[in-house]
Amino acid sequence: MKCQAYPGEDALAAALGRIILDTIRRLPAVVLGLPTGRTPLGLYAELARLTALEQPDWSEVRTFNLDEFVGLAPSDSGSYRAFMQERLFHHVNIRPEHIGFLDGVAEDADAECGRYERAIAAVGGIDLMVLGIGANGHIGFNEPGKTLAARTHLVTLDAPTRAANALWFDGDVTRVPRQALTMGMATILAARAIVLIATGETKAEAVRAMLYGGVTTAVPASFLQLHPQVNVMLDQSLADQLA
Ligand code: GLP
Repeated sequence: MKCQAYPGEDALAAALGRIILDTIRRLPAVVLGLPTGRTPLGLYAELARLTALEQPDWSEVRTFNLDEFVGLAPSDSGSYRAFMQERLFHHVNIRPEHIGFLDGVAEDADAECGRYERAIAAVGGIDLMVLGIGANGHIGFNEPGKTLAARTHLVTLDAPTRAANALWFDGDVTRVPRQALTMGMATILAARAIVLIATGETKAEAVRAMLYGGVTTAVPASFLQLHPQVNVMLDQSLADQLA
Protein backbone atom coordinates (compact mmCIF):
# COMPACT_ATOMS: atom_id res chain seq x y z
CA MET A 1 0.00 0.00 0.00
CA LYS A 2 1.33 3.41 -0.94
CA CYS A 3 0.92 6.01 1.76
CA GLN A 4 1.05 9.79 1.39
CA ALA A 5 0.55 12.52 4.00
CA TYR A 6 -0.91 15.97 3.25
CA PRO A 7 -0.51 19.10 5.41
CA GLY A 8 -4.22 19.15 6.29
CA GLU A 9 -7.70 17.94 5.34
CA ASP A 10 -8.07 20.69 2.71
CA ALA A 11 -4.84 19.73 0.95
CA LEU A 12 -5.90 16.08 0.96
CA ALA A 13 -9.33 16.93 -0.44
CA ALA A 14 -7.77 19.14 -3.13
CA ALA A 15 -5.37 16.38 -4.21
CA LEU A 16 -8.03 13.66 -4.38
CA GLY A 17 -10.56 15.97 -6.03
CA ARG A 18 -8.02 16.64 -8.76
CA ILE A 19 -7.28 12.91 -9.18
CA ILE A 20 -11.00 12.15 -9.57
CA LEU A 21 -11.65 14.95 -12.07
CA ASP A 22 -8.57 13.94 -14.10
CA THR A 23 -9.90 10.37 -14.08
CA ILE A 24 -13.31 11.55 -15.35
CA ARG A 25 -11.62 13.47 -18.18
CA ARG A 26 -9.48 10.48 -19.15
CA LEU A 27 -12.24 7.90 -18.67
CA PRO A 28 -15.66 9.62 -19.05
CA ALA A 29 -17.58 6.42 -18.24
CA VAL A 30 -15.57 5.70 -15.11
CA VAL A 31 -17.28 3.64 -12.40
CA LEU A 32 -16.62 5.14 -8.96
CA GLY A 33 -17.17 3.52 -5.58
CA LEU A 34 -17.97 6.16 -2.96
CA PRO A 35 -18.06 6.46 0.84
CA THR A 36 -20.07 8.59 3.22
CA GLY A 37 -18.98 9.93 6.61
CA ARG A 38 -17.25 12.99 7.97
CA THR A 39 -13.94 12.22 6.26
CA PRO A 40 -15.08 12.67 2.63
CA LEU A 41 -17.00 15.92 3.32
CA GLY A 42 -14.01 17.99 2.15
CA LEU A 43 -13.64 15.85 -0.96
CA TYR A 44 -17.28 16.29 -1.97
CA ALA A 45 -17.10 20.06 -1.33
CA GLU A 46 -14.00 20.18 -3.50
CA LEU A 47 -15.61 18.13 -6.29
CA ALA A 48 -18.65 20.46 -6.22
CA ARG A 49 -16.35 23.51 -6.30
CA LEU A 50 -14.14 22.20 -9.12
CA THR A 51 -17.20 21.08 -11.11
CA ALA A 52 -18.76 24.57 -10.91
CA LEU A 53 -15.44 26.06 -12.01
CA GLU A 54 -14.32 23.66 -14.73
CA GLN A 55 -17.60 22.06 -15.87
CA PRO A 56 -16.33 18.51 -16.29
CA ASP A 57 -18.94 16.17 -17.80
CA TRP A 58 -20.34 13.66 -15.30
CA SER A 59 -23.05 12.39 -17.66
CA GLU A 60 -21.34 9.07 -18.38
CA VAL A 61 -19.94 8.57 -14.85
CA ARG A 62 -21.46 5.81 -12.73
CA THR A 63 -21.26 5.55 -8.96
CA PHE A 64 -21.92 2.85 -6.39
CA ASN A 65 -21.99 3.81 -2.74
CA LEU A 66 -20.55 1.46 -0.18
CA ASP A 67 -23.43 1.16 2.21
CA GLU A 68 -26.84 2.28 3.46
CA PHE A 69 -28.82 2.08 6.69
CA VAL A 70 -31.66 -0.43 6.89
CA GLY A 71 -35.07 1.13 7.40
CA LEU A 72 -34.27 4.55 5.92
CA ALA A 73 -35.79 5.54 2.58
CA PRO A 74 -33.70 7.64 0.15
CA SER A 75 -35.83 10.66 1.09
CA ASP A 76 -35.02 10.28 4.80
CA SER A 77 -32.53 12.98 5.80
CA GLY A 78 -30.46 10.44 7.78
CA SER A 79 -29.99 8.12 4.81
CA TYR A 80 -26.63 7.92 3.10
CA ARG A 81 -28.51 8.42 -0.18
CA ALA A 82 -29.71 11.84 1.06
CA PHE A 83 -26.17 12.66 2.24
CA MET A 84 -24.79 11.95 -1.24
CA GLN A 85 -27.55 13.89 -2.97
CA GLU A 86 -26.84 16.98 -0.90
CA ARG A 87 -23.04 16.79 -0.93
CA LEU A 88 -22.27 15.57 -4.45
CA PHE A 89 -24.99 14.40 -6.83
CA HIS A 90 -26.93 17.67 -6.65
CA HIS A 91 -23.81 19.57 -7.77
CA VAL A 92 -22.81 17.53 -10.85
CA ASN A 93 -24.58 16.43 -14.02
CA ILE A 94 -24.61 12.73 -13.15
CA ARG A 95 -27.67 10.90 -14.53
CA PRO A 96 -29.97 9.61 -11.76
CA GLU A 97 -29.99 6.18 -13.42
CA HIS A 98 -26.17 6.08 -13.12
CA ILE A 99 -26.31 6.40 -9.34
CA GLY A 100 -25.99 2.96 -7.74
CA PHE A 101 -27.29 2.69 -4.20
CA LEU A 102 -28.38 -0.01 -1.81
CA ASP A 103 -32.08 0.31 -0.96
CA GLY A 104 -32.41 0.47 2.82
CA VAL A 105 -36.15 -0.20 2.65
CA ALA A 106 -36.01 -3.17 0.28
CA GLU A 107 -38.42 -5.87 1.49
CA ASP A 108 -35.94 -8.67 0.89
CA ALA A 109 -32.44 -7.64 2.04
CA ASP A 110 -30.71 -10.68 0.53
CA ALA A 111 -32.34 -10.10 -2.85
CA GLU A 112 -31.34 -6.44 -2.67
CA CYS A 113 -27.71 -7.39 -1.95
CA GLY A 114 -27.73 -9.79 -4.91
CA ARG A 115 -29.19 -7.08 -7.14
CA TYR A 116 -26.37 -4.71 -6.13
CA GLU A 117 -23.64 -7.24 -6.90
CA ARG A 118 -25.18 -7.88 -10.32
CA ALA A 119 -25.53 -4.14 -11.03
CA ILE A 120 -21.82 -3.61 -10.30
CA ALA A 121 -20.84 -6.60 -12.44
CA ALA A 122 -23.13 -5.48 -15.29
CA VAL A 123 -21.13 -2.27 -15.78
CA GLY A 124 -17.80 -4.08 -15.68
CA GLY A 125 -16.92 -3.53 -12.02
CA ILE A 126 -15.62 -0.53 -10.09
CA ASP A 127 -12.64 1.36 -11.54
CA LEU A 128 -11.83 3.57 -8.57
CA MET A 129 -13.06 2.86 -5.07
CA VAL A 130 -12.78 5.66 -2.50
CA LEU A 131 -12.90 4.52 1.13
CA GLY A 132 -12.94 5.96 4.63
CA ILE A 133 -12.09 3.88 7.69
CA GLY A 134 -13.90 3.47 11.00
CA ALA A 135 -12.00 4.00 14.25
CA ASN A 136 -12.48 0.24 14.86
CA GLY A 137 -10.95 -0.61 11.46
CA HIS A 138 -14.22 -1.12 9.62
CA ILE A 139 -14.60 -0.43 5.92
CA GLY A 140 -18.06 0.40 4.63
CA PHE A 141 -19.99 -1.38 7.37
CA ASN A 142 -17.77 -4.47 7.46
CA GLU A 143 -17.39 -4.64 11.22
CA PRO A 144 -14.55 -6.46 13.05
CA GLY A 145 -15.49 -10.02 13.99
CA LYS A 146 -14.62 -13.71 13.82
CA THR A 147 -15.60 -13.80 10.17
CA LEU A 148 -16.34 -11.37 7.35
CA ALA A 149 -18.99 -11.82 4.67
CA ALA A 150 -17.29 -11.54 1.29
CA ARG A 151 -20.09 -10.03 -0.75
CA THR A 152 -22.77 -7.38 -0.23
CA HIS A 153 -24.75 -8.30 2.87
CA LEU A 154 -26.90 -7.26 5.82
CA VAL A 155 -24.98 -6.32 8.99
CA THR A 156 -25.79 -5.49 12.59
CA LEU A 157 -23.85 -2.40 13.58
CA ASP A 158 -21.44 -2.30 16.54
CA ALA A 159 -22.24 0.13 19.35
CA PRO A 160 -19.18 2.37 18.62
CA THR A 161 -20.18 2.56 14.96
CA ARG A 162 -23.71 3.62 15.88
CA ALA A 163 -22.27 6.20 18.30
CA ALA A 164 -19.99 7.55 15.55
CA ASN A 165 -22.97 7.86 13.21
CA ALA A 166 -25.15 9.74 15.76
CA LEU A 167 -23.66 12.87 14.20
CA TRP A 168 -26.05 12.40 11.25
CA PHE A 169 -29.06 12.10 13.59
CA ASP A 170 -28.74 15.32 15.65
CA GLY A 171 -26.41 13.47 18.03
CA ASP A 172 -29.19 11.08 19.06
CA VAL A 173 -27.75 7.54 18.99
CA THR A 174 -31.20 6.00 19.58
CA ARG A 175 -32.20 7.20 16.10
CA VAL A 176 -29.24 5.48 14.38
CA PRO A 177 -30.50 2.31 12.68
CA ARG A 178 -29.27 -0.98 14.14
CA GLN A 179 -28.65 -2.62 10.79
CA ALA A 180 -27.20 -1.68 7.44
CA LEU A 181 -26.48 -3.11 4.01
CA THR A 182 -22.85 -2.96 2.88
CA MET A 183 -20.58 -4.08 0.11
CA GLY A 184 -18.44 -6.97 1.37
CA MET A 185 -14.64 -6.96 1.42
CA ALA A 186 -14.51 -9.06 -1.77
CA THR A 187 -16.78 -6.57 -3.52
CA ILE A 188 -14.43 -3.78 -2.42
CA LEU A 189 -11.24 -5.68 -3.29
CA ALA A 190 -12.56 -6.36 -6.81
CA ALA A 191 -12.17 -2.64 -7.61
CA ARG A 192 -9.31 -1.97 -10.02
CA ALA A 193 -7.85 0.79 -7.83
CA ILE A 194 -8.56 1.86 -4.25
CA VAL A 195 -7.93 5.13 -2.42
CA LEU A 196 -8.41 5.17 1.35
CA ILE A 197 -8.62 8.52 3.09
CA ALA A 198 -8.20 9.01 6.83
CA THR A 199 -7.76 12.15 8.88
CA GLY A 200 -7.35 13.02 12.55
CA GLU A 201 -5.62 11.32 15.44
CA THR A 202 -8.66 9.19 16.37
CA LYS A 203 -8.03 7.04 13.29
CA ALA A 204 -4.33 6.46 14.04
CA GLU A 205 -4.70 3.04 15.70
CA ALA A 206 -6.96 1.73 12.93
CA VAL A 207 -4.61 3.01 10.22
CA ARG A 208 -1.58 1.55 11.99
CA ALA A 209 -3.25 -1.86 12.23
CA MET A 210 -4.35 -1.63 8.59
CA LEU A 211 -0.87 -0.79 7.32
CA TYR A 212 1.43 -2.70 9.65
CA GLY A 213 -0.60 -5.41 11.39
CA GLY A 214 -1.41 -8.86 10.02
CA VAL A 215 -4.38 -9.50 7.76
CA THR A 216 -7.19 -10.22 10.20
CA THR A 217 -10.97 -10.07 10.37
CA ALA A 218 -10.45 -8.13 13.64
CA VAL A 219 -9.37 -5.23 11.40
CA PRO A 220 -11.37 -5.47 8.17
CA ALA A 221 -9.26 -2.69 6.58
CA SER A 222 -6.19 -4.96 6.86
CA PHE A 223 -7.60 -6.97 3.92
CA LEU A 224 -6.59 -4.03 1.72
CA GLN A 225 -3.03 -5.37 2.06
CA LEU A 226 -4.13 -8.09 -0.38
CA HIS A 227 -4.88 -5.56 -3.15
CA PRO A 228 -2.11 -4.49 -5.57
CA GLN A 229 -3.30 -0.91 -6.12
CA VAL A 230 -4.13 0.88 -2.88
CA ASN A 231 -3.23 4.49 -2.12
CA VAL A 232 -3.66 5.67 1.45
CA MET A 233 -4.04 9.44 1.85
CA LEU A 234 -3.59 10.82 5.38
CA ASP A 235 -3.45 14.24 6.97
CA GLN A 236 -0.28 15.19 8.82
CA SER A 237 -1.87 14.99 12.29
CA LEU A 238 -2.63 11.32 11.71
CA ALA A 239 0.69 10.60 9.98
CA ASP A 240 2.55 12.10 12.97
CA GLN A 241 0.89 9.51 15.22
CA LEU A 242 2.25 6.70 13.06
CA ALA A 243 5.86 7.92 13.12
C1 GLP B 1 -19.09 5.02 8.68
C2 GLP B 1 -19.28 4.52 7.23
C3 GLP B 1 -17.96 4.22 6.59
C4 GLP B 1 -17.02 5.34 6.93
C5 GLP B 1 -16.66 5.25 8.38
C6 GLP B 1 -15.87 6.43 8.90
O1 GLP B 1 -19.84 4.32 9.62
N1 GLP B 1 -20.14 3.39 7.08
O2 GLP B 1 -18.12 4.04 5.20
O3 GLP B 1 -15.83 5.24 6.18
O4 GLP B 1 -17.78 4.97 9.18
O5 GLP B 1 -16.67 7.54 9.04
P1 GLP B 1 -16.11 8.98 9.32
O6 GLP B 1 -15.49 9.44 8.04
O7 GLP B 1 -17.31 9.79 9.68
O8 GLP B 1 -15.12 8.86 10.41
